[in-house]
Parts: sequence; C-alpha cells; structure tokens
Amino acid sequence: MSDTPDTSHYAHGHHSSVLASHALRGIKDSAPHLAPLLRPSMNILDLGSGPGSITLELAKAVGPDGHVTGLDFSAEAVRTASAAAEERGTSNVDFRIADLYSLRPGGDGLQSGYDVVHAHQVLQHLPDPVQAIRVAASLVSPGGILSLREVDYSATTWSPPSIGLDTWLRVLRGYMSLEGHDADAGGKMATWLDEAGIPASAVRLTQREQTYTTPEARKAWGESWVQRALHSAFRDLSIKHGLLDQAGVGAVAQAWQDFADAPSGNFTFRHTEALVRF
Ligand SMILES: C[S@@+](CC[C@H](N)C(=O)[O-])C[C@H]1O[C@@H](n2cnc3c(N)ncnc32)[C@H](O)[C@@H]1O
Repeated sequence: MSDTPDTSHYAHGHHSSVLASHALRGIKDSAPHLAPLLRPSMNILDLGSGPGSITLELAKAVGPDGHVTGLDFSAEAVRTASAAAEERGTSNVDFRIADLYSLRPGGDGLQSGYDVVHAHQVLQHLPDPVQAIRVAASLVSPGGILSLREVDYSATTWSPPSIGLDTWLRVLRGYMSLEGHDADAGGKMATWLDEAGIPASAVRLTQREQTYTTPEARKAWGESWVQRALHSAFRDLSIKHGLLDQAGVGAVAQAWQDFADAPSGNFTFRHTEALVRF
C-alpha cells in the first residue's frame, strides 16, 4: 500500500474539528442497518474509517475471535484511530493507510475476502463511486455482506428556522459539487450499485432519518459545526469558490452557535443504507 495517497480532494478535510465530529459516531447511530447482522468472529473491512469510532464498535461486536481492519487514505485519520484503539485497549483491530482504489483481494496484507465490507459516508467524497463499489464488492467473501450508508443533504431539515443554516447548506452543497463530490449520494446508491454490476435482487435498500433533538445532542452537533465552519475545509473551500467571504463564514458559525444554544429544536438528516448479500 502507498504510504502517501493524495488526500487533497477530500472535501471535509481532516482538521481536528472534523475528526472530532466524526468520532462521535457509533454503530447505533451510524450502522443501524448492519447491527442485526453482526456476529462474533466475523472479519470486517471498514473502508474510509476516519477517526475509527465506528470501527472500534465493530471490533467490540465481533469479539476476540473476530477482527476489524480500518482503512483510510489520511495518515492523520489513521493516527487518530490507532490512538483511540490503544487508549481503549482494543486489540482485535488494525488501521492502515491506503487509497481504497488501490485495493486488491489478498494484496498488501489484506485478506482475500471479508465477511463484511463496510463504508460509511465515503462514496459521497469519491471521484468514481461506481468503481469504488466494484473494489469494495471484490473484497467480500462468498456469503458475505457489503454495507454502505450515505447521506442526502437535500433532505436535511432543522428547527428553529435559520437563514444562516440555509446559507450553510447551500454553501456546503455548492462546494461539494464544485469539488466533484455528491451531497446527495444516498439517493444515487441504487443506480451506482446497478452500474457496478450488482444485481438488484442482491440489494436491500433502506432509508432512515437521524435526528438531534435532545439539548445535549443539539449542543454537541451545533458546536462541532461552529468549529468546522471557522477552521476546517468548510471555511477554505467556501472562500476558495467565492461562496462566502470571511464575514460570511463568521455568520454561518454564529448560526450554528445559535442553534446549539436554542432552548428547543431539532436537526434531521436522511440517510440511505444498502446491504448487498454475495
Ligand atoms: C466522512 S468521513 C467518514 C469516516 C467514517 N467512515 C465515519 O463515518 O466516521 C470519509 C472518510 O473517507 C476517507 N476517504 C476518502 N476518500 C478515500 C479514498 N480514496 N481511500 C481511502 N479513504 C478515503 C476520508 O479520509 C475520510 O476519513
């Protein structure tokens, strides 16, 4: 595997505010479609594992006789994930740096097949999601499962109404598109799976909403976006593409702070999940 994959086109970037936000994820909120299928002693490959919080929960779910490999092209993400594994004393997991497009069954220390190949919120960031699905599918053992989950940003809603969050969503969708990413990947998955040559009879698609309603959840989500707006690729790409100036970035951050501090409210995402049986 290459030690230095080119990560420059990943639109969220790997600022600590982004990794911290993704590190809040676990199986319950981010892999509910896969949870009922997890069994002790499974071998799992988690593609685009980021800070590894989902990966570590998968490792717990498969128990000491199972193993999970998390793989990401960002050295920073892999460092963060490896440190979290060490801190928790999780020994049935390893994290590797690699570009998923370079993977081959049995190549570079990978197994020839996995019981589960999982990718969460990764296809939306890829230049060729159909080829990525082909690669992921090639790594699934006969009888195994490919598990995918992607967002549809166009179906995102929130309360109370906020002109600043309207701007946030328009700008996010704008720069993702300009960078060649897909903010509505969830709704495209059926088409992408078909184009990758996967028969529709093998695919089970579900859609689910994820909502932040409690004061604690809204505060954590809102304040993570204050940091992301001010410091991460959100700021850099919105300015680079002329979608916001520095004052506009500040207004979006303030809108997120207002959301985090509001006495009531909610934020709702829609996700599409795919389970493919081989
Ligand atoms: C939105 S994050 C999701 C992280 C994790 N799956 C989660 O849900 O918390 C997408 C991750 O995919 C990684 N990624 C993007 N393109 C990749 C590629 N070509 N090969 C490997 N990883 C990639 C990014 O570095 C990032 O960590």
